Amino acid sequence: MCGIVGYIGNKRACSVLIEGLKRLEYRGYDSAGVCVFSGEALHIRKATGRVAEVEALACADRDIQAGTCGIAHTRWATHGEPNEVNAHPHCNHDNRIAVVHNGIIENYVTLKQFLASKGCVFRSQTDTEVLSHLISEFYEDGADSLEEAVQAALREVSGTYGIAVVCSDEPDKIVVARKGSPLIVGVGSDEYIVASDAAAIIEHTANVVYLNDNEMAVITRDGMRTMTVDNVPVTKEVQQIEWSLEQIAKGGYEHFMLKEIMEQPEAVRMSLGGRLDLREMRVKLGGLEKVSRDLVRARKVILTGCGTAWHAALVGEYLFEDLARIPTEVEYASEFRYRNPIVDDGSLVIALSQSGETADTLAALREAREKGALALGIVNAVGSTIARETDAGVYLHAGPEIGVASTKAFTCQLVVETLIALMLGRRRFMSQPTMDQYMQALTRIPEQIERVLEQSGLVRQIVAEHVDRDNWLFLGRGYNYPVALEGALKLKEISYIHAEGLPAAEMKHGPIALIHEGMPVVFIAPRCSTYEKILGNIEEVRARRGRIIAVATEGDTGIARYCDHVIYVPDCPVPLQPILTVVPLQLMAYHAAVARGCNVDKPRNLAKSVTVE
Ligand code: F6R
Repeated sequence: MCGIVGYIGNKRACSVLIEGLKRLEYRGYDSAGVCVFSGEALHIRKATGRVAEVEALACADRDIQAGTCGIAHTRWATHGEPNEVNAHPHCNHDNRIAVVHNGIIENYVTLKQFLASKGCVFRSQTDTEVLSHLISEFYEDGADSLEEAVQAALREVSGTYGIAVVCSDEPDKIVVARKGSPLIVGVGSDEYIVASDAAAIIEHTANVVYLNDNEMAVITRDGMRTMTVDNVPVTKEVQQIEWSLEQIAKGGYEHFMLKEIMEQPEAVRMSLGGRLDLREMRVKLGGLEKVSRDLVRARKVILTGCGTAWHAALVGEYLFEDLARIPTEVEYASEFRYRNPIVDDGSLVIALSQSGETADTLAALREAREKGALALGIVNAVGSTIARETDAGVYLHAGPEIGVASTKAFTCQLVVETLIALMLGRRRFMSQPTMDQYMQALTRIPEQIERVLEQSGLVRQIVAEHVDRDNWLFLGRGYNYPVALEGALKLKEISYIHAEGLPAAEMKHGPIALIHEGMPVVFIAPRCSTYEKILGNIEEVRARRGRIIAVATEGDTGIARYCDHVIYVPDCPVPLQPILTVVPLQLMAYHAAVARGCNVDKPRNLAKSVTVE
């Protein structure tokens, strides 16, 4: 996904910008560019492919090397193919104004027609180029400053943007603005670093200002002014980034994904941290205190998210109905606003998002609030847009998730959902002894995940036998049905093996036709009330000579009779099972991707944070 970096200070801007872009590489991109002010003019270098390509071009350019103020961008194509011309920065007609942009200008066609009628010649197919010409129009038409021209231009724009703009007539100034796309300003000593993601800032400073929607900042060597895009001054607080650079690095693992899978015991401990009051045996969620009465009164819960977060929401539906007895629905965030869902002031809408920036999830959240719902967030990225736009929420505290495939965020989402469901359940009907059991069981989960992770070698061996098969099935029931969906998603997104996840009983209604000799079928079959039924499903696959890999409860030696391979997970209460049963499936996907030589952390066509619709 697109990334923005900007710098003004005493260092060589080019080095800071390139390093910043490299820190954002994990988000996914297809081209990149830098623009540095040399003292006289703006100097731009762009390239498709890796940031290293731009770095090589910039290193060979003396003007670029000399500058101490500039902007840079990694692009993930939306309008126009990934090529050098479409890469950002985009300039106005005489290259005095340059813009980098994340987001989508929705009315760019209308604006383009208007600008073309005034003589503008467009070089690229992008929506962003419209912005550079529009700002230029206002600048040349009497605006007193670059920021005034930017404000005037943004008033004409509909859509989403995080932008950074420079102008050679106003050297040593960067104007930034945001609506729907994150922008952060790092405040160093005698320097400012602008970025769409904290990862590009933390090696310079932990002090940051988060811009809200419709806010902008004018940054010069003398300081920073913040205001709304309507030019109303706003005072912004300087906050501290919680994540260290070391946390973001790979920590000795070959891939971020493996590091994040292995980090899950610690991540879950962090998610639970201070939230299980074992003295009073109650769940304490500080982020929900101010809405605790509304929570208890809620008549229904709607959980929403995308991809892996949506799978976590599906588990949440079981948790909320089972433990808190509240009617619960799950909605794809991408569908939510288009299907007129029934939401009212008795509804509690909970948005799940690792990044806190997913455009569809944010839009669903806004729709829900507009309809009168109380909106909560279960978010990992502190200070992200979703976190800031909810009425209240609970952070995952899982640490940064860099690998594109979401792993530790999923398990921590399940943990936080369990905590909320227990808190509500206890206030509504749950007995203290039942509550005590779940709380004790939760405290054992991190150590139980460690035991599952110890089987990584076994999972690798199992996968090696089947990795040449191009179609896999994942089947589970009840709480483990969403786990089957998640296992299939993980496998397909990073190893490019086609996989389907299903409730096991659905197999007979069609997908059983797919089963043939040698087809790998993964059953998530821990001990639960439908255990006997899932054994029946296993038999059906065996009869058709499918190869069966089961995830089962420790001590269930009997299941091995029916299966080719068994991976055991420790025993725990059924509502907590998904936190354990998903771990072997994450390892399965990881080892399959490595065995097939895939780019584990940056799978093709995928981006870490999907900030466009
Ligand atoms: C899958 C994956 C995606 C994300 C989805 C939502 O491994 O990572 O499906 O879960 O794009 O992202 P967040 O949680 O950041 O809203």
